[in-house]
This record gives sequence, C-alpha cells and structure tokens, in this order.
Amino acid sequence: MAFPDGFLWGGATAANQCEGAFDADGKGLSTADVMTAGAHGIKRRVTPELEPGTYYPSHTAIDHYHHYREDIALFAELGFTCYRFSVNWTRIFPEGDEEQPNEAGLAFYDGILDELERHGIEPLVTISHFETPLGLVEKYGSWENRAVVDCYLRYARTLFTRWRGRVHLWLTFNEINCMSTQPWVAAGIASEDEGVRMRAAYHQLLASALATQMAHEIDPANRVGAMYAGHFAYPASPDPADVIGTMRFMQRMLFYLDVMCHGSYPPYKLRELERQGIALPVEPGDAEALAAGTVDFVSYSYYNTHVTGAKTRGIIKGMNGLDTGYKNPHLNRSDWGWTIDPTGLRFSLNLLYERYRRPLMIVENGLGAVDTVEEDGSVHDPYRIAYMRDHLLELECAIEHDGVPVMGYTMWGPLDIVSASTGEMKKRYGVIYVDVDDGGCGTFARSRKDSFAWYQKVIATNGASLHEDA
Ligand code: BG6
Repeated sequence: MAFPDGFLWGGATAANQCEGAFDADGKGLSTADVMTAGAHGIKRRVTPELEPGTYYPSHTAIDHYHHYREDIALFAELGFTCYRFSVNWTRIFPEGDEEQPNEAGLAFYDGILDELERHGIEPLVTISHFETPLGLVEKYGSWENRAVVDCYLRYARTLFTRWRGRVHLWLTFNEINCMSTQPWVAAGIASEDEGVRMRAAYHQLLASALATQMAHEIDPANRVGAMYAGHFAYPASPDPADVIGTMRFMQRMLFYLDVMCHGSYPPYKLRELERQGIALPVEPGDAEALAAGTVDFVSYSYYNTHVTGAKTRGIIKGMNGLDTGYKNPHLNRSDWGWTIDPTGLRFSLNLLYERYRRPLMIVENGLGAVDTVEEDGSVHDPYRIAYMRDHLLELECAIEHDGVPVMGYTMWGPLDIVSASTGEMKKRYGVIYVDVDDGGCGTFARSRKDSFAWYQKVIATNGASLHEDA
C-alpha cells in the first residue's frame, strides 16, 4: 500500500473565502474585505474604503460562519482525517495592533475545534491566509514596517496558547512566495516597488521563524510548516538561455523556502538584492532567529505548471495562471487557463524533497470548474474526479517509486467557496455543491456532487480505490 498508515486525507479552506459574517462579533476589516468581485480576465478591484452598493465576496461568502457544524459533519461523512482552515486575523485582533484579543472571535474557532474533535478530524491551522488586518495597512504600511512582526507574534502567541494541546499542525503564512506575484493579497502591499516587497518579505520570513520557535517553546509537540504557492516551471527549450531563465524564475519563487528550510538567505538572492540596490532591514539577532526558526515540514499548493525561459523576467503578476511569456503545447487547460499537469505533481514532490529533505504535504489541489445542477439537484462532475484521480496517482507514484515522504493531501475547497483570484463562485472546486452565485445570492444549501462519493471511497480505502477506474 503506497499511502502510509496515518496519511492525512482531507480538505482545505481560507477564512475570507468561506466564512462571510465579515463584521460579526467584533471582527475588523482585512485586505480581503475591500476586494470586489472580478472574473476570468477581469481583475478584482481594491477599494480604499467600502463602497455602498458594491458587492464584496468575502462579506457573505458561503456563510460558513453560521454553517460550520453542518459543513464539518459533511467532512466527517467524507472520512476526513484532517481539515486545513485559516483563522481570520481580524476576528482575533480587529485592527491588528490591539493588546488584548477579541474573545468572541476566539470562541468561534473554539467551536470549530470542538466539532473537529467530536469527529476525530485533525486540524491544520493557517495563521495568515490572505487576511492581513486593514488597520495594519493603514497605520503602519503593512509588512514593510517591522512593527507588524510584533503584531503578528502577539496574534500567533494567542493562538498557540489558547489551543495548546488541541492544535499541533500549523502553517505560518499561506503561499508566502505570493509576495512576489500578488503582494496586496499576500500582505497588504500595494506598491509595485521591488524594494518594498523584499523588505515586507523579509519581515514575514522573520515573523515566521520567530513564530516557529515560539510554537515549539509553547508546545514541543507542535509541528510548523512552510506553505509555498506551487510555482514550478519547465524550460521552454534546451536553449541554455531558456534553462537559465527558468532557473532564475524558480530562484525568485523558491528563495522563500530556502530561507525557511535552511535558515538564511541563499547567496543567489543576496547577490540579486545587492545588484538591485535593495538593503534588507536586518537588525542584530535576526540571523540567529532565522537560523533557529526553520520549519518542520514543507507544504504547498499544486494546481499547474508553467513554461519559462529567456523571456521570463522581472515581476510576474497574477495567481497560479501566471503569464510567463510561454504556453505549454503538451497540456490541456482549465476554463480559467490553468494548465492541467498531474505528472508535474510528481516532479514537484521530487524537486522539493531533494532540495529540502523535509516531509511534504499537499495542502491544496483541485480543479476550478463550472458545474451544472441537474433538475433533480445532482451534479455530475467526472472532470473533477479525473483531475483528482490523476493527481493522486502521481502522488502515490512519488511515495512508492521515488520514496518521497508525504504527510497528507487536503484538496482545495472541499465545499465550493469564493475564488481567491477572481472572487467568483462559479469557479467551483468542491465535492460539496453550495448554492450561492457570483452575486452572493442563493439558498446557501449544501449538496453532494458525484465526486463526493468518489473521494469518500478513496479516503476509506486509503487510496486503493484510485486503481479501480484508472
Ligand atoms: C491558492 C490560494 O493560490 O489557490 C487559495 O491559497 C486559492 O486561497 C486557490 O483559492 C485557488 O485559486 P482560485 O483563484 O481558483 O480560488
């Protein structure tokens, strides 16, 4: 059996994409709460303040805030052994810089943990998933300012102490390398300036290292992971210029993990910063903090792969469907233009394990697709089943043939949630259908798609059923 005993099977969500209740029980505004809805090819706008009459998807999302018991019961029915969710920072510290946490916010997540415990599902908590408090952006200029490191550490300490013994798996920042591709979403940074981004990234890396040490001190059983937006690239051709262009692209993405796993900035990044005339805001003791705060495991999202080369330069914008200047003629694409590349998952697992020698975990994977609800309420989604099956078979191959240690797999959006890149609902990943449309209207009812029973069986057989229809 390739999937080891105790392999974690489950799903992953982000607070701002599912909870709604954006101002309930003392919650403050986050960077996500001022993002309007977009569409494929239409960018989401960030409004300086809330515009009356404008629809903001995070405000209601799928109202998980009031449906979490029902949602977790469905996860239990699926057989989940792990649920990855994020804490909405502004439920705990509404402005980000308060001295004392908001008890009502903590109580909400106590309720989630109660339900997970009742069903024997292990929580994996993302401390910051695209939800920087707007208060920190407005008062401090967000992560470019070192004061935000202290705010984050106060927030992290609050969670580590409150849930000591209840949560053992933590991720410090979702997709930390998104600072290089979508800094507003990742960190409340609106600037195009590379120096601003790199100083903000430095502060996040420092905060992550300090939080990792803190988690270990508070509970030695805590395991803290890095979370990387799975950008992986193939060279456009054997032309050495394309190979070097690809190496440079991967270095721009992977330096974050290099710091988190090796405990210092890699030489190639230090030289690049020097050439760019960017000085990192290093203070005494920082080098020791980075070295002492390396992560226990490496997690990442995997949706697709890119092609890069000599033309791929500078700042690359966007989420997973990055425009690198090349297209891969060998791969199909989703309706949102993301390549579909199961083999690339095996490639990426090998690449990261060779480089970091840490246990790995796939904490996001799935197909964003348009679903049709039949008259009887059913949703037939063979495309989603095929996508997940093909990826899980490659994951199995990496474990069995290549000996890569993989802790678990949490599919993205086990129930349909708001898309991070477009703000749409119609880009659905779930095995559970949620009746909400792109304008936030619907009954909010949950129902099982065909993929629900399929995934349930995969989990029940610890992956063995993947071979039945392969
Ligand atoms: C990852 C993010 O980049 O991709 C998630 O961590 C996001 O928050 C997911 O939802 C899928 O992207 P999208 O844009 O299809 O929702």
